[in-house]
Amino acid sequence: MKKITKAVFPVAGMGSRFLPATKATAKEMLPVVDKPLIQYAVEEAVAAGITDMVFITGRNKRAIEDHFDKAYELEATLEAQGKKELLRIVQEVVPKHINCIYIRQAEPLGLGHAVLCAQPVIQDEPFAVILADDLIDGKVPIMKQMVDVFARHQCSQLGVQDVPRSQTKQYGIVSATNLEPNLEQVHAIVEKPKPEVAPSTLAVVGRYILTPRIFHHLVNVKPGAGGEIQLTDGIAALMQEEKLLAYRFDGIRYDCGSKLGYLKAQIAFGLKHEELHSEFSEYLKLVS
Ligand code: UTP
Repeated sequence: MKKITKAVFPVAGMGSRFLPATKATAKEMLPVVDKPLIQYAVEEAVAAGITDMVFITGRNKRAIEDHFDKAYELEATLEAQGKKELLRIVQEVVPKHINCIYIRQAEPLGLGHAVLCAQPVIQDEPFAVILADDLIDGKVPIMKQMVDVFARHQCSQLGVQDVPRSQTKQYGIVSATNLEPNLEQVHAIVEKPKPEVAPSTLAVVGRYILTPRIFHHLVNVKPGAGGEIQLTDGIAALMQEEKLLAYRFDGIRYDCGSKLGYLKAQIAFGLKHEELHSEFSEYLKLVS
């Protein structure tokens, strides 16, 4: 029985939809209320029992590394000022048993290429991939749900949800047959199909569990949609050899790579934030 102990976080994209905010910092450092997107993603991995966090960074990587490092001066200042609660928040950004590993993607050649950069660390183990800009709020954290499915099926798995047909060209789309409630077996996957040719409306969102065989295929993937090395193309080749599942996760997804999705996340997380919820909901009633 294999276990998932490593998660890959590709954070080397251009983040062009958020310029100028992403001119000098990674999109994954944008906060939702008071926490950067990448921290929500790492917390989700920790909740799934994952211990090794592998970040694929690019230009503007420093803020992410600094965020997960010990902040000696800040901690000393908070301590001297007696700000115990803030000190606790800063110290708990990464639990002590977690390892953070950084790999540089020299050029943003695509998500498939970013995942391939993790091969020297992942080696011969199945692993998780989490895209921090897909913020998913579930009672049970989404990667925990997927790791539980993996424990039973021991094969690659995609997090999926139904999207409106008009939006298929923004996603990898699968065609699949039902295996059990919320779980499908995938027969085909295409990147960003036009609505009229999309095989279904079941879209892959930013959660994956992949076997290490994916690396063998990613090496051979040629630039596809948008001139990028697409993870979807590697997965399509993997599927020819191994079983591939699609898991309909239980949770609400916010596409924080888009401005509208990001604003929706701010509202949802603001409304449930323990300090803010009552004042913020009053305010929203006033302005709506
Ligand atoms: P996106 O396509 O959503 O991110 O990639 P982007 O390219 O940064 O965004 P826009 O379209 O320019 O606004 C999905 C994820 O893959 C990472 C991104 O950081 C994001 O988390 N990525 C993408 C890489 O790490 N490397 C790449 O070459 C491309």
